[in-house]
Amino acid sequence: MNSDIAHVKQNFEKDLKKITSIEELNLLNIAYLGRKGRVNEVLLSIKDVPKEKRKIFGESVNTLKFFIQKSIDLKRGIILQKKDREHYIDPTLPGLPYPHGSLHIVTYAIEEISQIFERLGFIRMSYREVEWEYFSFESLNMPKDHPARDDFETFFIDFPPHKEYGKMVLTPHTSSGQVREMIRSKKPPIKMINIAKTYRPNWDATHVPMFHQFEGLCIDSGINITNLKGTIEYFARSFFGNNREIRLRPFHFQFTEPSFEVDVTCDICQGTGKVKNLKCKVCKSGWLELGGAGMVHPNVLREGRIDPKKYSGWAFGFGIERVFMMKQGLNVDDIRILYSGDIRFLEQF
Ligand code: DAH
Repeated sequence: MNSDIAHVKQNFEKDLKKITSIEELNLLNIAYLGRKGRVNEVLLSIKDVPKEKRKIFGESVNTLKFFIQKSIDLKRGIILQKKDREHYIDPTLPGLPYPHGSLHIVTYAIEEISQIFERLGFIRMSYREVEWEYFSFESLNMPKDHPARDDFETFFIDFPPHKEYGKMVLTPHTSSGQVREMIRSKKPPIKMINIAKTYRPNWDATHVPMFHQFEGLCIDSGINITNLKGTIEYFARSFFGNNREIRLRPFHFQFTEPSFEVDVTCDICQGTGKVKNLKCKVCKSGWLELGGAGMVHPNVLREGRIDPKKYSGWAFGFGIERVFMMKQGLNVDDIRILYSGDIRFLEQF
């Protein structure tokens, strides 16, 4: 269905290029935007789209309609200007509309994620991008020479170190907000969603040096893994669709014990790993990786001045760019396009 939208768009662009007069332009307008035009034709096919995808489909058709309308108006302006130069003015014609702006797609994703966790009573925080080593590492049970620290390649800032907290860094993950939140809120219950920019010195088709993460933290008496699983499942179903399942795979992180990697079923193959008997190209196994999670390590609770004998908690940390692309079923060859400022890419969402 999305290919229909792309197809109409392509054809429209081709047709538009050939137009040289207002008469032709009016005909093109009818052919695409008229009652029996191509856009309405595509819209009618919504009945063949699965229910849970109708909203996105409808939005995409609207975007297409808006794009066609805008392009026709612009073209009208160009043709008239030409005529104008030939001393022809038609003052009865409507003025040219200003192009509408929109927010960046990552901003939309952040907004949606915040709302989902708000419904569960989580407080939205945005902890520091410029952090001390202590909050990024030591407070999370990663001492100075611990090899796990190598997994979090870090930008260091040329600034005099803090007596207690060490060097200044660009935070490599949103987990640095965990102990900050424990200290800020003084006492459980704590339910935080920390959404912030994070930085690591990588630049290739699957990495950008600045990206975004969202970190959930929940601490109270009697909190256990089922709460973690239920919360992530709620998020996955609200964000990706009601038919999604999640699974936890054992893993290792210094700041959680036990630790997991979290996967969600792939939308393309519905978690089977196969499309028409061939291996699913998007996930290869039926599952897509969301990120890391686990039960907060007692040492981390202690750093946050919380007694691990009285309280327990869980945490997770997922990448926003990653979940956004999974939601859209986007198979972007090069993630850097998200930050290229190329309006032709951004306009499609
Ligand atoms: N901070 C980790 C990373 O950036 C992700 C993560 C793993 C966050 C486990 C967590 C957690 O809160 O419990 O790779």
